[in-house]
Amino acid sequence: MQGLNIQYLHIMDFQLPYCFFFLLLLLLPFSGNGQAHSNISSGLFLTAASDNLPWTSPSGEFAFGFQQVGDAGYLLAIWFNKIPERTIVWSANRNDLVQGGSKVQLTRDGELVLNDQSGRTIWSPVFGGSGAAYAAMLDTGNFVVASQAGANLWQSFDEPTDTLLPTQNLNLGAQLIAPYLEKNYSDGRFKFILQADSNLVLYTTRYPTTTSNVAYWSAQISTGSGYRVIFNQSGYMYLADQNGNTLNSVFSNSVSMQDFYLRATLDYDGVFRQYAYPKTASSSTRWAMAWTTLPNFIPSNICVVIRGPVGSGACGFNSYCILGDDQRPRCKCPPGYTFFDPNDERKGCKKNFISQDCDHPSQEIDNFMIWDMLNKNFPFTDYEDFFSVDEDWCRQACLSDCYCAVATYNSGHCWKKRGPLSNGVTDPSIGDKALMKVRKGNRTAGSSAKKSDRSILITTGSVLLGSSIFLIVLSLLGIYVFFTRWNQQKQKMVPQLHVMPEMNLQNFTYNELETATGGFKEELGRGAFGIVYRGALANEDKPLIAVKKLEKMAGEGDTEFNTEVKVIGRTNHKNLVQLVGFCNEGENRLLVYEYMSSGSLSNYIFGYSRPSWHRRMQIAFGVARGLLYLHEECSSQIIHCDIKPQNILLDESLNARISDFGLAKLLKTDQTKTTTGIRGTKGYVAPEWFKNLPVTTKVDTYSFGILLLELVCCRKNFEINAMQEDQIVLADWACDCLKEGKLNLLVEEDEEAMEDMKRVERFVMVAIWCIQEDPSLRPGMKKVVQMLEGSVQVSVPPDPSSFISTI
Ligand SMILES: *[C@@H]1O[C@H](CO)[C@@H](O)[C@H](O)[C@H]1NC(C)=O
Ligand SMILES: *[C@@H]1O[C@H](CO)[C@@H](O)[C@H](O)[C@H]1NC(C)=O
Ligand SMILES: *[C@@H]1O[C@H](CO)[C@@H](O)[C@H](O)[C@H]1NC(C)=O
Ligand SMILES: *[C@@H]1O[C@H](CO)[C@@H](O)[C@H](O)[C@H]1NC(C)=O
Repeated sequence: MQGLNIQYLHIMDFQLPYCFFFLLLLLLPFSGNGQAHSNISSGLFLTAASDNLPWTSPSGEFAFGFQQVGDAGYLLAIWFNKIPERTIVWSANRNDLVQGGSKVQLTRDGELVLNDQSGRTIWSPVFGGSGAAYAAMLDTGNFVVASQAGANLWQSFDEPTDTLLPTQNLNLGAQLIAPYLEKNYSDGRFKFILQADSNLVLYTTRYPTTTSNVAYWSAQISTGSGYRVIFNQSGYMYLADQNGNTLNSVFSNSVSMQDFYLRATLDYDGVFRQYAYPKTASSSTRWAMAWTTLPNFIPSNICVVIRGPVGSGACGFNSYCILGDDQRPRCKCPPGYTFFDPNDERKGCKKNFISQDCDHPSQEIDNFMIWDMLNKNFPFTDYEDFFSVDEDWCRQACLSDCYCAVATYNSGHCWKKRGPLSNGVTDPSIGDKALMKVRKGNRTAGSSAKKSDRSILITTGSVLLGSSIFLIVLSLLGIYVFFTRWNQQKQKMVPQLHVMPEMNLQNFTYNELETATGGFKEELGRGAFGIVYRGALANEDKPLIAVKKLEKMAGEGDTEFNTEVKVIGRTNHKNLVQLVGFCNEGENRLLVYEYMSSGSLSNYIFGYSRPSWHRRMQIAFGVARGLLYLHEECSSQIIHCDIKPQNILLDESLNARISDFGLAKLLKTDQTKTTTGIRGTKGYVAPEWFKNLPVTTKVDTYSFGILLLELVCCRKNFEINAMQEDQIVLADWACDCLKEGKLNLLVEEDEEAMEDMKRVERFVMVAIWCIQEDPSLRPGMKKVVQMLEGSVQVSVPPDPSSFISTI
């Protein structure tokens, strides 16, 4: 069999596909069961058994036969036969698996029949006219049944399940139904259909039936009417009219079928994806979408597009959908809820607490709390809405209403929603805040043993203190926060500025920069120094730049500005944002930096999805090394004075790059002034700022310590809506956890970090050393890098305030 296939491969290399039938003629029909067949003559059959060989195509790339699905039975299917990862592209009985001993046969009467072991017919395609003379598994992945004269009577390509293969078309009225789960092939909850009205649409289904429910994508055609979806040999997929003219392009990446296996599959999550698999694959190869430049999946964000009055949405009831870094949707349960079935997250979530008692509402109010969740909504589950109310009113309204499961609030508008919640989604594009009502004391995450009365007293005290500090922080943040609004989506398309033309700084004229930024049009962010704009240089490769227009220069002389800028310009390290040039013309002072396509660390770690622990560790190393360079390795020492996640940018490879360094000196901020004069951002600022003590590199160590904790836990240092009061200030909570030997609480929902607790512990201990109130106890950045890397032992740090008398 092996030899036969190889022989075919060689011949096929030189022949056009038409020759295939000629080759078939040359083949002597094989008899018996379980042999490789190119022409399956009537009477032949396959039996469902674990050791049964399928009918393969001449090249051996596709096979038709039985696939065992766990203990549940056998699927009569077509699959990629040369790929280790089981990849089924078609099946006959996905909703009706058969047991061992069942049989598929091309009968003497010319019928293709799947019978179970008792002889009952499970499946048999109907073809008009005469009986079939033979069947064949073709190299395209199409299984055909043909008449004596060679005419196709039936082909699997006409009855797709969830996958289309190159050269396979989807005809008017035909549809794909997603599988239920990745390894459960029965009919799922989504479909892709070329409707009889010529519209190409993605729908949710009214599971367990397959009737259409909510449309969440459709081909936008302006003229003409769709006749078939063509998936051609270059990997293009488009909706064509009767004359073959393209009306709408579904996927337009060119892929060579010589080098890749290709398929387009409606996946169980409702996304229609085009996949490729290199033919010269190593054993670790997987089906991937990464080789492409244009998006090859639709819709682009399934979490936000599915919403309708009936049905659960992209995820199950009471859950919400979130798009991961890999652009795949994940389903999550809100606080107070857990999955019905952890093995099938799409079955939704159940309430983990006893609902509010409607007979005693006033008594019950105190037993419930509201959990704030930003950028979340559960569309179509509201039963009441209110205008011109404030958020607090909205909270109270939900708390005191036993029907209310969650309220959502957005600019004066409050919606009360009842269970089961549907269409749940979280995404930065959603402005609503969800106010989730949960019973106190019944926590799903971060729950720890009850604290003693004494510690509750202490916590309450520190929370009171903490919240007033928080208010100050809030107002200071209002002044200082750097709104980096880097557009994540641009990241994919833009070319990058990889290498500096030379180390020399360019001296730009104002006009040049005005042109480069298109008249200072596209704002990237806004900070204490002024506004940052996006632009592109006029060189051949038009590298992208970020232009920072400095405000309020306190009357410095030209020479002084130029000197400082040159100091910044001389720095060169892979963890710093490189200064490309500057402009110093009259009133105008601008700095030109290379463009960082992945935005700020702040957006990255506090955004809608949690980056991996590994990635966060790499970022911590990067920031530490960048600071070490600024403090000790560059020609003149630079103290940053404002290390915080907003000032760490990420390049296209997600390397951490420190930005805005050198500006503290450049802008001559008085570094010994009191609170309002300080440049640093409250929360990241070392205590000596407030005490008129000299500023040293140790202020950066302190800020780095806070940032490191934020990286470990993926949350902000101040989180007023923390699960528990003693968790509001991360630095305090981390110290408590370390002391109590419960560091696992800090990374509780992060499996990757949970499996690396030794390193988590080391990172937390380093962070606590960095945030010692006494600057002399804090390590220098060199030591920090060594401790993070593990080349130097880390001892258990003291409580940060233990060596300093309180304020
Ligand atoms: C396939 O087998 C049938 C029955 O033996 C034969 O009549 C037919 O010509 C064969 N077709 C091809 C293309 O080999
Ligand atoms: C697939 O999922 C459906 C729905 O939960 C279930 O009824 C069926 O038994 C599953 N099939 C297999 C093979 O696990
Ligand atoms: C596939 O379709 C694209 C777009 O219509 C076209 O450019 C390409 O030449 C086609 N390839 C083949 C092999 O027909
Ligand atoms: C939490 O919820 C469960 C299930 O509803 C209940 O049995 C339990 O008593 C609750 N615990 C608390 C502390 O309310």
